[in-house]
Amino acid sequence: MRLLTAGESHGPLVLAVLDGVPAGLEISASEIDVDLRRRQLGYGRGARQRIERDAVRITGGVRQGRTTGAPVALEIANKDAVNWERVMSAAPVAEPPDAVTRLRPGHADLAGALKFGHEDVRDVIERASARETAARVAAGAVAKALLGVVGTSVASETKSIGDVTGVPTFDHDAVEASEVRSADPDRSRAMVEAIAAARDAGDTLGGVVALRVSGVVPGLGSFAEWDRRLDGRIAQALMSIQSAKGVQFADAFAAARERGSAVHDPIEVRSGAFARTRNRAGGLEGGVTNGEDILLEVAFKPISTLMKPLPSADLRTGAPAPAHVERSDVCVVPAAGVVAEAMIALVLADALCEKFGNDNVADLCGALARYRERLRPIDLRR
Ligand SMILES: Cc1cc2nc3c(=O)[nH]c(=O)nc-3n(C[C@H](O)[C@H](O)[C@H](O)COP(=O)(O)O)c2cc1C
Repeated sequence: MRLLTAGESHGPLVLAVLDGVPAGLEISASEIDVDLRRRQLGYGRGARQRIERDAVRITGGVRQGRTTGAPVALEIANKDAVNWERVMSAAPVAEPPDAVTRLRPGHADLAGALKFGHEDVRDVIERASARETAARVAAGAVAKALLGVVGTSVASETKSIGDVTGVPTFDHDAVEASEVRSADPDRSRAMVEAIAAARDAGDTLGGVVALRVSGVVPGLGSFAEWDRRLDGRIAQALMSIQSAKGVQFADAFAAARERGSAVHDPIEVRSGAFARTRNRAGGLEGGVTNGEDILLEVAFKPISTLMKPLPSADLRTGAPAPAHVERSDVCVVPAAGVVAEAMIALVLADALCEKFGNDNVADLCGALARYRERLRPIDLRR
């Protein structure tokens, strides 16, 4: 399965093309829109989310409610584009817009301008922007639909914002009811207060998102080659999210300080299947899923755009200048959780298709059923 996204933050639309989706998968625009809406929510989002009301237009690969096996094309219009027509015009305009030249620390501005030779940082901002994550979330909803067919589900919860932290429970209804996507009401309130205080100070906050994937098919990925190890592929996908700065499986950094006897997960046979008495590996051993829940955490840095800008420099002259200030979110951790769900779903759906085939959903399910039969412990099969 391959995902390509295109489109600028203030261009006409963002676009996802997802290739390799098996034929026969039921999918609807309204199902995808649920996740697009979840991505837009969260206390601490900026004015842009009040302008946009994301809705997908499926423009390829789906007919009569089912995928055809052709690339799935998903478009999300940028409502804000009407305010940016002159700036974003593909053709040269008579009155060119002012260039952005005051570099913003923490953004791709400087590195991107140096790399591509841009003299107007707008050419970097527009594509480095996390508006692109709307396309990822739309494609991720298709991946989630495929995972749903085989009984795999992805959940996320905000574990911490700033220094307000706690233990996630993944209580779905409580998480979705919270404006910061934390199941605990007291913690939610404290997180909202922390975000409000940062905003009042012209500052921003980051945090940690916890992810749990349940109903995981064992044997996805491979230990045999470095680029087939699924833990590495998952970490790459999550690290590619704008402002993600760290990934750990289960409590890997704490486990690194303990002895092996306390860290590894004893094996037993329970109800006819191999099982573990605990899950500190986070669902993967040797880069292969072991059937336990996949448990992960992703660290997101505080948002880079500050209303009280950091000292910086002008791209063209090198003269000292405060960073450019653009309308911005104060904290995106709740939204980033929804994006993280999409990214892990895409990797797992890809690994599922790799093992069981991606021509047709019924064929995939048949192959999976035969595989599950083989997995039953030998002594219990007699
Ligand atoms: C859902 C989401 C929304 C974001 N919104 C903003 C924003 O409004 N302002 C901002 O400065 N950064 C925002 N970011 C983060 C930047 O896009 C990101 O920090 C920047 O592109 C630099 O990339 P890096 O942090 O991965 O190095 C957002 C990230 C996500 C995941």
